[in-house]
Amino acid sequence: MYANRTNHLKAEGAYAVLAKAQALEADGREIIHFEIGQPDFDTFPNVSMAGMRAITTGKTNYTPPAGTPSFRRAIAMDASARRGIDISPAQVVVGPGGKPHIFFPTLALVNPGDEVIYPNPGFPTYEAMIGVAGGKPVPVPLVEENNFSFDLDVFDSLINERTKLIIINSPSNPTGGIIPQADLEHIAAAAKKYDCWVLSDEIYARIVYDGMDDAPSIYALPGMAERTVIMDGFSKTYAMTGWRLGYGIMPEELARRVGLLLTHSVGSTAEFTQFAGIEALNGDQAQVTSVIAEYERRRNVIVDGLNSLPGITCQKPQGAFYVFPNIKATGKTSDEFANWVLEEAGIALLPGTSFGEFGEGYLRLSYANSIENIEKAIGKLAKILK
Ligand SMILES: Cc1ncc(COP(=O)(O)O)c(C=O)c1O
Repeated sequence: MYANRTNHLKAEGAYAVLAKAQALEADGREIIHFEIGQPDFDTFPNVSMAGMRAITTGKTNYTPPAGTPSFRRAIAMDASARRGIDISPAQVVVGPGGKPHIFFPTLALVNPGDEVIYPNPGFPTYEAMIGVAGGKPVPVPLVEENNFSFDLDVFDSLINERTKLIIINSPSNPTGGIIPQADLEHIAAAAKKYDCWVLSDEIYARIVYDGMDDAPSIYALPGMAERTVIMDGFSKTYAMTGWRLGYGIMPEELARRVGLLLTHSVGSTAEFTQFAGIEALNGDQAQVTSVIAEYERRRNVIVDGLNSLPGITCQKPQGAFYVFPNIKATGKTSDEFANWVLEEAGIALLPGTSFGEFGEGYLRLSYANSIENIEKAIGKLAKILK
């Protein structure tokens, strides 16, 4: 009755846990939320004002499907300066969120049967969209011993002439890990050897700690501009999840094809939202800096707190706003542990398996929550883990 191409699709785990947590809240239980990957800050006022001003001055029309020329120019300038690369506006495609720049480039590149390498544990949309395109999903484990970068031995054993696309994500959701430069070089060399594309999800590239500049991009490596798609957006850096605003950077011919997919699917991204995006990029960046400093303080508190608990060890990730603690010594599976702490301690978090089978033995906590709540949650966990 239905077409096969949606049979494999599942809801994101975070929404299922949120629904369970909200049902408990409706019964009067206090729940501390670590399940949703969404900044707990409001969109910065100058950006909201720019969006509202655009609405009241009639910026409420269709735009060219790939975005307004001035917004594409602003993105090209910002992305070129940040990554030390040379991007033209014609390579920029704007869309409603970052997700369309996973979906449409995958559709434009992957033929049925083509193999696609992607991180596991990883953002669930990758596997979902590979399936919709008819590709063969080839998960490569991220390993804790390598700061949650790819297991490169497994990567080397899986890449071959049938590999069409390699998806990478740094800093990573769900681990917060950053792919080291040497690993990027290894992946780039393999992509060139087997003539495949790379989709680099860089949505957390600016949310990095310990004095680091933006996370390095594989796009900047020699010979990679012609085979790399950068996916980026405004949801995380500018706390704009509900505005739905993101972009892809890719070679011009692919940009043209992705633009056509946008033409025939969403038409265009809201015009006033694009005006807000220009203000986000060109306005004062001090708010971004101060939000990242606050995430860093929270990261330090949550990592120290988790490491103080029996049976739990937690690496200190250098990016995004997630930690991915190892709970193998507790003897519980990820699912058992996540359900148990929700019921017993009122703490909502995600099992690592929400991000794929290699997430077993881990949990994901989003620390887009106050230090006060983080400390309270660690206290509650300490009580039930005794
Ligand atoms: C790794 C990763 N990529 C892409 C996205 C999509 O972001 P959006 O579509 O809100 O821009 C997210 C959001 O959670 C993410 O975590």
